[in-house]
Amino acid sequence: MSTHHGRPDSIAARTVDLTKVYGIGDAEVHALDGVTVEIHAGEFTAVMGPSGSGKSTLVHCMAALDTPTSGSVFLGETELAHLKDKELTELRRDRIGFVFQAYNLVPTLTAEENVLLPLAIAGRKPDPDWYDTVIDAVGLRDRLGHRPNEMSGGQQQRVACARALMSRPTIVFADEPTGNLDSTASAEILAFLRDSVRDFGQTVVMVTHDPVAASYTDRVIFLADGKVVDELRSPTSETVLAHMSGARRGPETGQGHAALHTA
Ligand SMILES: Nc1ncnc2c1ncn2[C@@H]1O[C@H](COP(=O)(O)OP(=O)(O)OP(=O)(O)O)[C@@H](O)[C@H]1O
Ligand SMILES: [Mg+2]
Repeated sequence: MSTHHGRPDSIAARTVDLTKVYGIGDAEVHALDGVTVEIHAGEFTAVMGPSGSGKSTLVHCMAALDTPTSGSVFLGETELAHLKDKELTELRRDRIGFVFQAYNLVPTLTAEENVLLPLAIAGRKPDPDWYDTVIDAVGLRDRLGHRPNEMSGGQQQRVACARALMSRPTIVFADEPTGNLDSTASAEILAFLRDSVRDFGQTVVMVTHDPVAASYTDRVIFLADGKVVDELRSPTSETVLAHMSGARRGPETGQGHAALHTA
């Protein structure tokens, strides 16, 4: 709980019995199978689990990029299913930041134009102090005039992070933000996300496969087969690794999640 800012017990977002079924009949896939989870404001939360366990589906549903089959998503007090299309568009723009594995920058725009694009679409100008704070935090001051193809992957992802934070969203989701980066660039992105939580009180949820990435966070939520199976507070790469190998051995060995929870 050490990194909580301001309102220690407030919930930035939550899901209630969330399900997502893709396909029909024999092709039916239960990507989410009853997920009830709370994301604490001012915390850095990791979502981990095997490939296909529903991590991306969960963050897409929470970020209003996908619609659940049943159950509810709340952003603060707002239930997403109750919003009209226009309200959903505004919520995505104003209250949610999203960082994709593949950066998803607009190739024809400069770094600065990419960072400011969501605000520009909304017809707004950034708060100048906040803009400077974020640009300096990601270390992009000398790259603002570059286009994505003139930047390294790490620099492009730092642009994407700055873009996600510019509207001061309620929550930033990042789906494997370091998945395409080498260890040095990854460490920069992870430190930036962690510091945005610690220094700005930002709430961040990050999907990752990497125990080292998870060790930057305050809490890890583990998914398996579309369900939340466990969580870990104040993770280290060692406790996350121990958890993952325990999960692979399975509970029947007596070395399952519960046994390793306090490791
Ligand atoms: N658009 C889709 N249509 C059909 N099935 C889908 C779709 N998106 C996801 N799925 C299925 O839903 C399940 C969960 O997928 P999801 O992408 O959420 O997993 P993930 O945990 O993010 O995996 P990874 O670590 O590989 O990114 C998988 O079985 C996947 O094949
Ligand atoms: Mg995924």
